Amino acid sequence: MKRELEKIAEEIRVCTRCPLHLNRTNAVPGEGDPCSGVVFIGEAPGQSEDVQGRPFVGSAGQLLTQLLSSNGISRESVFITNVVKCRPPGNREPREEEIKACLPYLRRQLEAIKPRVIITLGRHSTRTVLGMHGRAVNSIMGVRGREFMVEESWGSLVVFPTLHPAAALYNPGMRSSLEDDFKRISRIIKGEETK
Ligand code: URA
Repeated sequence: MKRELEKIAEEIRVCTRCPLHLNRTNAVPGEGDPCSGVVFIGEAPGQSEDVQGRPFVGSAGQLLTQLLSSNGISRESVFITNVVKCRPPGNREPREEEIKACLPYLRRQLEAIKPRVIITLGRHSTRTVLGMHGRAVNSIMGVRGREFMVEESWGSLVVFPTLHPAAALYNPGMRSSLEDDFKRISRIIKGEETK
């Protein structure tokens, strides 16, 4: 599994499938322990991630790391990646065609990891992952904090959408919803919650 993930990461680092490669410093394939069977999926790298080539290392990443650790989960113990692996200019939202061009990498990462739990962070990631399973998402608020059982070639898994940590940085009123979701996420990861 780790060899396959490294092979995918090497392809991502030299990818030219969409124009985002023109402005990147580094592509950001993802990192963490794939053996956990737990994958967190964000939107796209920001400036710090582009510089370091690592996911969620800027201010949203610090909040993610804190939410994980305050719920007894170390960030090294889960796999963290994004739907889009290169930074959109000025941190704009990824475009549909960029998501489409990058999606085969996420699919291959998931096929290699065979996760039992996927946490989607924010609207783009949620829409993309639930969309792979034929579920339309109109708004993140309509689906966050709910467990979706989906079938994959390797078995059933839980998809749990939550807010993007950056949303809580811009809008402190969202912080308590995010904290509530991470308490649930901790129980789901530890197998203490099935529904
Ligand atoms: N926001 C994301 O969605 N992903 C990152 O890696 C960093 C910020």
